[in-house]
Amino acid sequence: MKTLRQYIKEANEKGVAIGHFNISNLEALHGIYNAAKKLNLPVIIGLSEGEEKFLGREEAVALVHTIRERDDYPIFLNADHHASFNSVKACIDAGFDAVIIDAAKLPYEENVAVTKQCVEYAHKVMKNTGRDILVEAEMGYIGSGSDMKDSIPEGAGILTNPDEAKKFVEETGIDLLAPSVGSIHGLIKSGKPHINAELVKEIRKTVGIPLVLHGGSGLRDEDFVNAIKAGISIVHINSEIRLAYKEAVEKFIEANPSEITPAKILTGAVQAIEEVVEARLRLFNEIK
Ligand code: G3H
Ligand code: ZN
Repeated sequence: MKTLRQYIKEANEKGVAIGHFNISNLEALHGIYNAAKKLNLPVIIGLSEGEEKFLGREEAVALVHTIRERDDYPIFLNADHHASFNSVKACIDAGFDAVIIDAAKLPYEENVAVTKQCVEYAHKVMKNTGRDILVEAEMGYIGSGSDMKDSIPEGAGILTNPDEAKKFVEETGIDLLAPSVGSIHGLIKSGKPHINAELVKEIRKTVGIPLVLHGGSGLRDEDFVNAIKAGISIVHINSEIRLAYKEAVEKFIEANPSEITPAKILTGAVQAIEEVVEARLRLFNEIK
């Protein structure tokens, strides 16, 4: 099977993007996998530190690896927004395919130092085991939390400077960069700002490594299309999945207050997540 690195390269050459979707339970994993498999597309499963704590680090690896090996299917696992070297290291040791060291809020030199430490550790493990591990880092601040927000949080949305990004990439040796180009984490009730596709293009050209768009939930379709055309190779979606899950469970319980069988209560939630993911994957891959 091709590595995630190879799938990202292919996506970049084709002008499409790989979908990255977060999970904290088995229902979300099933919904996401059903959609990816239906469209025969590679897919990345992400777990933030909180999601990982709830589902279990080794459990997540076992689930994703089981699907990958059983179906010979390109499904990959990413440690999403991990804030320290130790939490990144734990995921690398557990068998994750990719990690994000999220130190963008730290002063520049500290961000470089911890990111470099993660890259060096990933390289060491790759050398010793023959595994391929991707390290991503963030520049600029796009807010935190895949939740419902009334408005854009203070301090979020500071756009990434292409020259600073180039310097950061050269100093750290990261494989993927998450720039701040207009999106914000979470579903913003008043609507998200537009993606600055010109900036995406400039950053992609300047840094020379694949770019990842975070904070995908609630963006307009044309913003995804323009961002991908401009050089985004992976798109992250989380809040839309959480909302679909919650609404489906609520709807079911309201209509069936005496039902207590989890499989019955949660089947609609799996389907709702599948629908969200399928629509996003079609858009990212120009599938009608
Ligand atoms: O890393 C996760 C994402 O960037 C999700 O952002 O909740 O706005 O979709 P979102
Ligand atoms: Zn993110």
